[in-house]
Amino acid sequence: MDIEKLRKSMKSILSDSRYLHSIGVEEVSYDLALIHGDDTIKASVAGILHDCAKHLTGEELIRECEKNNLRISEIERKLPELLLHAKVGALYAREKYGVADDNILKAIEYHTTGRPDMTKPEKIVFVADYIEPNRTEPIPRMDYIRETAYRDLDKAVVLILDNTIKYLKEMKFLIEPTTLETYDYYVNKQ
Ligand SMILES: [Fe+2]
Ligand SMILES: [Fe+2]
Repeated sequence: MDIEKLRKSMKSILSDSRYLHSIGVEEVSYDLALIHGDDTIKASVAGILHDCAKHLTGEELIRECEKNNLRISEIERKLPELLLHAKVGALYAREKYGVADDNILKAIEYHTTGRPDMTKPEKIVFVADYIEPNRTEPIPRMDYIRETAYRDLDKAVVLILDNTIKYLKEMKFLIEPTTLETYDYYVNKQ
C-alpha cells in the first residue's frame, strides 16, 4: 500500500488541522506497532486513514450508512459526527482506498469507542488517536498516558477511557454503551 498516496488523498479532503492530526496518528501508530511487535505498515495505513470520513456532516454520515445498509444505533443517530465517522471511515477505507485487510478496517471502525477484547492494531490506533503529538488541548495526565502507551497498551486504554468517561459525564454528554463496556473489560483485565 502506498502511504504517500494515502497521505495526499487525506490532505485533499481533510481540513489542515485534521490532516495534521492524521499524520500524527499515523506516526504514533507506526511507533506503537514497532514497540509492541505488530505490523508497522498496517498500523500506518490505519492511522493515516482513521478519520477519512471525518469531513462529512452528520446528515451525510447517516445517509452513507443507510445507503450501505450499515446499522445505526439510537445513540449513533444522536451523535453521528462523533460515532458514525468511524463506521463510514472503515467503509471508505475498503471502497475508496482499496484496503482489504480486516485488521486495518476494524482498527478504523473502533477507533472512537474502542470495544472489549480489541486486537492489537485496534488498540494501537485507539491509543494513537488520543496521544498523537499534534493534539494541543490540555488533557489530564497526558505525559503519563503517553509514557504508559509505549509500555502497556491495555493500561493506556484504561487511562484514556477513564479520562474520556469522566469528561463526558462532566459535560453531561451521552456515553456510547460500548465505551463503558470497553472500560469495564480493560479494568477487569488489569
Ligand atoms: Fe476519529
Ligand atoms: Fe482522530
